[in-house]
Amino acid sequence: NKGSYEHYMQKEIHEQPESLRTTMRGRLIRGGFCKAKSVLLGGLKDHLKTIRRSRRIVCIGCGTSYNAALAARPLLEELSGIPVTLEIASDLLDRQGPIYREDTAVFVSQSGETADTLHALQYALDNGALCVGITNTVGSAIARNTHCGIHINAGCEIGVASTKAYTSQIVVMAMLALAVGDDTISSQLRREAIIDGLFDLPNKVKEVLKLDQEMKDLAEQLMAEQSLLVFGRGYNFATALEGALKVKEVALTHSEGILAGEMKHGPLALVDENLSIFVIATHDACFRLVLFSKQQSVIQQLHARKGRLIVMCSKGESSLVCPGVSVRVIEVPQVEDCLQPVINIIPLQLLAYHLTVLRGLNVDQPRNLAKSVTTQ
Ligand code: F6R
Repeated sequence: NKGSYEHYMQKEIHEQPESLRTTMRGRLIRGGFCKAKSVLLGGLKDHLKTIRRSRRIVCIGCGTSYNAALAARPLLEELSGIPVTLEIASDLLDRQGPIYREDTAVFVSQSGETADTLHALQYALDNGALCVGITNTVGSAIARNTHCGIHINAGCEIGVASTKAYTSQIVVMAMLALAVGDDTISSQLRREAIIDGLFDLPNKVKEVLKLDQEMKDLAEQLMAEQSLLVFGRGYNFATALEGALKVKEVALTHSEGILAGEMKHGPLALVDENLSIFVIATHDACFRLVLFSKQQSVIQQLHARKGRLIVMCSKGESSLVCPGVSVRVIEVPQVEDCLQPVINIIPLQLLAYHLTVLRGLNVDQPRNLAKSVTTQ
């Protein structure tokens, strides 16, 4: 049921304040007198010790689910102190990459039925790793066959392009990081700040959804484009990949997510006055300041080569991000750095949606794609 919306994708984008609330419901502990703020993940509690002892955490998924793991990796590494690697399920299988008994393998999947991810799960089980499932479908094959897991609880997602499941997957992985790091005193203040950030996240998502009309206007401007590059770095490299994936799969427009640090190693050659480029340059708090200034210099260089820039920055910071440069700016609310990808993807979801509708394409059922990819 689409309710008052025209399409499922539109409904699912706008549902995100609520889907995120359901994802977090009952799992965040507010703390209080003599009691620290913490997270409670029922499905994991008997396995947390094993996870903390593991030599490596390997996150495995496909498409959007892989991107969610990429967005959460910095926090998982930071709070767990354990090396975190990422694997695209098909590539892990193609390489028969090493998975060990001492590994924790985290399988991320909206449907819980994706064939590549399921085969990678079997492979990790055969190799003796502890297998954790993060899925949106209770009773799915991945949920049933992992040792333990966390349900995403984002509600049923019907549009082929994953939107609300993506933001909920990031939040689930942030909660996983908080739970694994829960025994470390030195990061307690950081964890509490993130928990506060999670409580407030649905309100911030509501705020960023107000950009709907602005993104529709931008879509009108970009209607005739053949290509859109999306630059991001740090926590928001994932946002660049995921934003480009949305534009590609529904608007059927070539789009590429690029790690901004790689710009000079090739992509810069593409830039001229005919190329539209979306740069994510939101302000990451404290020690990430360095990344912010690096992103400023990326903007300067793209501008010097006359790229048609659209810059996403934190509210009130446009003159800081692009001093003396006149570009189209999208301002988004600032949240805790590790949660910023949840906010930043939303304007890109809206952009992909509007581009598709304006072009008269099928937004809920793009050609050649299926919601659940059950063949290899
Ligand atoms: C993109 C999209 C796909 C899926 C991928 C994995 O919008 O939906 O890239 O993310 O096919 O699917 P799940 O998460 O069901 O394993």
